[in-house]
Amino acid sequence: MSDHRPAVTARAPAKVNLLLQVGPVRDDGFHDLVTVFQAVSVHEDVTATPAADWGLTVEAAGGADVSGVPLDGSNLALRAARLLAERAGVDEPVHLHVRKEVPVAGGMAGGSADAAAALVACDALWQLRTGLDGLATLGAELGSDVPFGLHGRTAVGTGRGEQLVPVLTRGSFHWVFVLDPAGLSTPRVFAECDRRRGPGWGPPPADVRLEAVEAALRGGDAEALAAALSNDLAEAACALAPQLTRTLAAGRAAGALAAVVSGSGPTVALLTASAASAQDVVAELVPVVGQGRLRTASGPVPGARVLEALAPG
Ligand code: C5P
Repeated sequence: MSDHRPAVTARAPAKVNLLLQVGPVRDDGFHDLVTVFQAVSVHEDVTATPAADWGLTVEAAGGADVSGVPLDGSNLALRAARLLAERAGVDEPVHLHVRKEVPVAGGMAGGSADAAAALVACDALWQLRTGLDGLATLGAELGSDVPFGLHGRTAVGTGRGEQLVPVLTRGSFHWVFVLDPAGLSTPRVFAECDRRRGPGWGPPPADVRLEAVEAALRGGDAEALAAALSNDLAEAACALAPQLTRTLAAGRAAGALAAVVSGSGPTVALLTASAASAQDVVAELVPVVGQGRLRTASGPVPGARVLEALAPG
């Protein structure tokens, strides 16, 4: 056993989709996407400590409800650590401690951030030096959003979301996230999107939405970005969780530049003009949804990275 080795903590960000264009379902059951991810300052911290056997604990931070997080071998962080160990030929179990700030089943890729942070933490602990591309290839086996959790910043995602190209951005964008206690299953939202489109649906002709998002990011222009935000899963998410329609309207009424469903929902993302106006929007919304459901964040932020390597002893 190697419990004299130090523990390593890695941090990975949540994401919001600035654009989420959903294409037809593929033979493998996934949908082709054109999306723009932005990493935001709501984080998951994963600490990997050498242990006699594989194990996992989860801690709620910032009011996150972690009751829905699996603690067994199906947990994405644990699967990530074991996958890396298997591929690298490492036989050194770890205990993972996950400190969760990102809402569970919220459409912000919290589980994917756990996997990204676990890969980076274990890669450092085991001194593998796999590199970002190698970890991202492994990450894609675990989930479509894991490679983005590793890369962070702002990126266009294609394929099922795992093929990434960085996007040039200027400055920071300021967000308010409205959490929903319900949680939504991503496969259910994609299936509802398919159902609403019906069997005759074909993808629309290539449109200019991606260009508009990229131009707004390049210019650091929050108003232009607000006008360009869109999410093809929003209708399906609102059909499955009708309260979202009210939350979106409340966000707009509170002074946000735009309100969109984050990924497959049910978190609602409000883009604001500045850090100060994000605080104003929060103040407006506290009486409507309660303080506990509101988070402010900014983006872009970096992808998964090591925070600290604790000295032994
Ligand atoms: O890759 P990930 O595990 O995050 O995907 C969860 C589910 O979301 C998939 O099983 C699939 O039902 C749906 N999905 C999809 N198309 C994508 C990404 C996810 O249909 N591009």
